Amino acid sequence: MRKQGAIQADARFGQQQIVPIRPVDDAGQLKEDRAELIHFMCIMHALLLRIPAYNACMIHEKTILVIAGSVRPRRRCIAISEWVAALGQPIVDAAVEVVDLKDWPLPMDAEPGVPAAGGYAYDNTRAWSEKIAAADAFVFVTPQYNWGYPASLKNALDHLYREWAGKPAMIVTYGGHGGDKCARQLREVVTGLHMAPVAAMPGLTLPRGMIEADTPLDDAAALFDASADVVRQGWTELGQAMTSRDAPRPI
Ligand SMILES: Cc1cc2nc3c(=O)[nH]c(=O)nc-3n(C[C@H](O)[C@H](O)[C@H](O)COP(=O)(O)O)c2cc1C
Repeated sequence: MRKQGAIQADARFGQQQIVPIRPVDDAGQLKEDRAELIHFMCIMHALLLRIPAYNACMIHEKTILVIAGSVRPRRRCIAISEWVAALGQPIVDAAVEVVDLKDWPLPMDAEPGVPAAGGYAYDNTRAWSEKIAAADAFVFVTPQYNWGYPASLKNALDHLYREWAGKPAMIVTYGGHGGDKCARQLREVVTGLHMAPVAAMPGLTLPRGMIEADTPLDDAAALFDASADVVRQGWTELGQAMTSRDAPRPI
């Protein structure tokens, strides 16, 4: 499992070491240009090295981002996200990386334009755009907050548009009753962003005493052991969705 590197509080500087940031009029176009080059390489592999080389090639290593949805100081989300990521890594043929939204400051009132139109005014948004555009699939791990999901996650989703489109996604929720209400809402939103949510939607139940006392979660594996199989099922579906989406077409 790949860990997200430490990022400075000012993402304009921290992110520059991870992804090149440069002004673009249309972030979607930038990605399409890069995709063209990679697609050309795919054809070369198919012609010269036969189809199996396509999947083995380092150029085509896939990335799945496990996006931790909550950002409050005493959150359990990182522990749960890391447990979910560790379950998935042996199942999928991809690098799995936990993304902490606290490392991605995205002011709600900054961007003047509509994300669907492309083109972002701020470096933070451009860095987030490149991060999401470069990923092949997503796992959203989120608590239920007042029957919905946290504003931090909605804000991260709403900052972009076409970067999410067409990619498989799994939704993992948790709460006093597994977070089923926020899971349904989030499923509708990711569908609206043209992602392809897998059927499995694991809902992890937190003990009432733990919620009320706001005690830290030390051992997610022990607490959610009974739910591990449905999380693995979701990862299996996600891997299959990625494979069918990315399979090379006959030439
Ligand atoms: C603002 C807020 C609202 C919450 N609303 C719900 C809720 O509607 N249903 C539920 O089952 N739990 C609810 N809880 C309890 C959370 O599921 C639990 O505290 C969980 O650990 C929150 O995730 P986090 O620790 O990653 O922030 C709420 C917690 C907070 C902080």
